[in-house]
Amino acid sequence: MRYGYFDDERREYVVTRPDTPLPWINYLGSENYFGLISNTAGGYSFYKDARLRRLTRYRYNNAPLDMGGRYIYLRDDDPHPSGPRAWSPSWMPMRIPLDSYECRHGMGYTIIKSKLAGIESRTCYFIPIDQNLEIWELTLSNHRDQYANLSVFSALEFCLWDANDDATNFQRNYSIGEVEISPLSLEGRGARGEGDVIYHKTEYRERRDHFAFYACSEPLAGFDTDREAFLGPYRGWDSPRAVEAGQTSNSVAHGWQPIGAHHVKVRLAPGEQKTIIFLLGYHENPKDDKFDPPDSQVINKRTVLPVIERFLTANEVDRAFAELQNYWDGLLGKMTVNTPDVHTNRMINIWNAYQVMITFNMSRSASYFESGIGRGMGFRDSNQDLLGFMHLIPDRARERILDLTATQLPTGGAYHQYQPLTKRGNNDVGSGFNDDPHWLVLAVTAYIKETGDWSILSEPIPYDNQLGSETPLYEHLQRSIQYTLDRLGPHGLPLIGRADWNDCLNLNCFSDATGQSFQTTTNKEGKVAESVFIAGLFVLAAKEMAELASRVGYRNSNIKPTFELRPSMFYLDAAAKMESIVWQHGWDGAWFRRAYDDFGHVLGSKENTEGRIFIEPQGICIMAGLGLEDGRAEKSLNSVSVHLATPHGIVLHQPAFTRYYLHLGEISSYPPGYKENAGIFCHTNPWIMIAETMVGRGDQAHDYYLRINPSAREALSEIHRCEPYVYAQMIAGKDAPTHGEAKNSWLTGTAAWNYVAITQWILGIRPTYDGLQVAPVIPSAWKGFEAVRWFRGVRYDIHIKRTGTGNTVALEADGKPVTGNIIPLPPVGVEEVHVDVKVA
Ligand code: BGC
Ligand code: NOJ
Repeated sequence: MRYGYFDDERREYVVTRPDTPLPWINYLGSENYFGLISNTAGGYSFYKDARLRRLTRYRYNNAPLDMGGRYIYLRDDDPHPSGPRAWSPSWMPMRIPLDSYECRHGMGYTIIKSKLAGIESRTCYFIPIDQNLEIWELTLSNHRDQYANLSVFSALEFCLWDANDDATNFQRNYSIGEVEISPLSLEGRGARGEGDVIYHKTEYRERRDHFAFYACSEPLAGFDTDREAFLGPYRGWDSPRAVEAGQTSNSVAHGWQPIGAHHVKVRLAPGEQKTIIFLLGYHENPKDDKFDPPDSQVINKRTVLPVIERFLTANEVDRAFAELQNYWDGLLGKMTVNTPDVHTNRMINIWNAYQVMITFNMSRSASYFESGIGRGMGFRDSNQDLLGFMHLIPDRARERILDLTATQLPTGGAYHQYQPLTKRGNNDVGSGFNDDPHWLVLAVTAYIKETGDWSILSEPIPYDNQLGSETPLYEHLQRSIQYTLDRLGPHGLPLIGRADWNDCLNLNCFSDATGQSFQTTTNKEGKVAESVFIAGLFVLAAKEMAELASRVGYRNSNIKPTFELRPSMFYLDAAAKMESIVWQHGWDGAWFRRAYDDFGHVLGSKENTEGRIFIEPQGICIMAGLGLEDGRAEKSLNSVSVHLATPHGIVLHQPAFTRYYLHLGEISSYPPGYKENAGIFCHTNPWIMIAETMVGRGDQAHDYYLRINPSAREALSEIHRCEPYVYAQMIAGKDAPTHGEAKNSWLTGTAAWNYVAITQWILGIRPTYDGLQVAPVIPSAWKGFEAVRWFRGVRYDIHIKRTGTGNTVALEADGKPVTGNIIPLPPVGVEEVHVDVKVA
């Protein structure tokens, strides 16, 4: 069953009924100002940081689930015989049945269109590029054969900036809310009502230099800024008294809950259309020029007014929308494909690339499953997100790498998370997740392969953001590897610390008290429990370092390294040593083991009754090259297929843990089949796809790809329940009663890794230091495919033809045969290369 359809031409998903199984959301914004918006206009906005600078309020886990957002209400001021008196054109929050409804989630915008009793409304929500504001452009059309007298109300609720405080400290909050309401005196526009711009300025009197503005393009019939005045006592957003009465009360909030609501009266002739623009934005003033006059408490509006005026004009709005579309044309044009499979095409050309951008921007902070309060930018998460993002905006990837690196600690370990606003490591969570540092090596090497920007290695970057501690980035990478070498356990495998990739494998936690955090509680010293996963990751990272070291060594004139420079051989040796330890203690005969616990007992082995086989070490060890030569990789993958694969994706482990185990931690806290306890943790599935391509099995790789591809699952929407256009973190595993149901959509490493798996390994188009590699391992039934890939400023026009059923590649660039499968970089000045590939 479907709840909409893909409009690939316009790069939109069109939701055709408002009552989707869960809110199906989209993101607005691309750099500093962001919003989340659901298919019924729910959601909220923030500047840079969903925790520290939240503009509008949103109450998660509400009943109904999605309540609060960017609401517009329409009211028939002369009641129409065949319609209700008032309704929400986005269906929520009033839920009056609509004659027609459609929500188009597109690239950075959402359009909600509906019709009721002859009144059509279309609201386009978007954030202009480079602006700290959002536009709601509402167009009303009268399809009646009579005049329509309508009242239009807009409404949102302000958040008192710090979302955590906002949700907890009511004894203070109920007394601090402040607004300012002021007319916008625009030349030549005639007299304006006094409520044209509503400013939210809570705490502006003291240490905040920022405020929010909420403006409307039309003269107002009234406004409200006090929630209770607008809604009426004991009422909710589904039945505001002001809407019912057809009149706002020009309320001014003093404490309690400041809101913004505009009231506009519209008279439409039959067939007439009218557009109204609402603007919500964020603005900062210089610290010493906050007030105007300076000795008053009135916001200085000199720099904000021109911005407001500009975007209240229809031309500017059109121009900004066109600019947003060009921006996405440019980004999505970096790689496009035409394969025999529609789901592959749609995800690569549109939605997967889009989601990769969103995960880059949000990390794991704000979604409909992440509150925006708990987690900022994850170290391992953001480094992995970069793997899919690199080619989109390399400059921003570079900046992100430098920010992440600055939260590394002198030991080589890293803060597990940092806040995007302050860019400082988060002390609540701290460090000690022993896989973290290696992801940085993978991100940096991927960045250089994509861009050829070797200069990044010389960038001076501090540790723990401490001024004076700067060393070149390259040294940070060296310390990442050293971190593991300094933390080896009894078998010579890496100690796991608080957890490895699997945040819930808490082998040193031993928590028996409710309420303790599994990630930060450690009751054991951590000298015994080891991770085979980190061993595999270490081999992968050490091999990358070996190659890096062989190419650059390291040179820098300004900043001296403080750490001995290691030759390539050092890293090759370290990788080889770790490999042999894995074969000795990490191989179980038919698959890779998972870990050793604090008692020194193995996990992920035929010796275990629960948790006998795990997906993560199979993926990472094979990606690191283990077992490729001697058939053990195939063996491991065959075990995955037998024990872990399901029609909905590959589960994390089997058998699931049936009870809580003190020595395993959070993994055994989930009921079987959910999340880390044998759920289909989609992030890990692309590792298996990549591994399958490395052993040459394109059919199997692509089959796994389709099992979790959201577009391919669209027809199962009533089972899958999450958005069919983006990956979810988890699909319930076979042990769960809800097998196949997705959760935690949007913010997941699944986005970047699937993008990498399908584009770089199955389609085989991979950036390397020396040029673009083309080594497809595609399904045997495919006759070929075409791709356009921009790489270091050159457009590669790639045509693949299958002439046999294997993966042997013969390549021609601009008609000339190429030895091997890497197209050498063309001479400077060449902007396009035509590539013909035969796969036999
Ligand atoms: C989740 C993990 C997540 C961790 C982060 C756990 O509850 O199951 O997926 O990584 O929290 O804090
Ligand atoms: C989600 C976290 O964001 C990620 O860092 C972790 O690797 C996975 N959960 C698995 O636990």
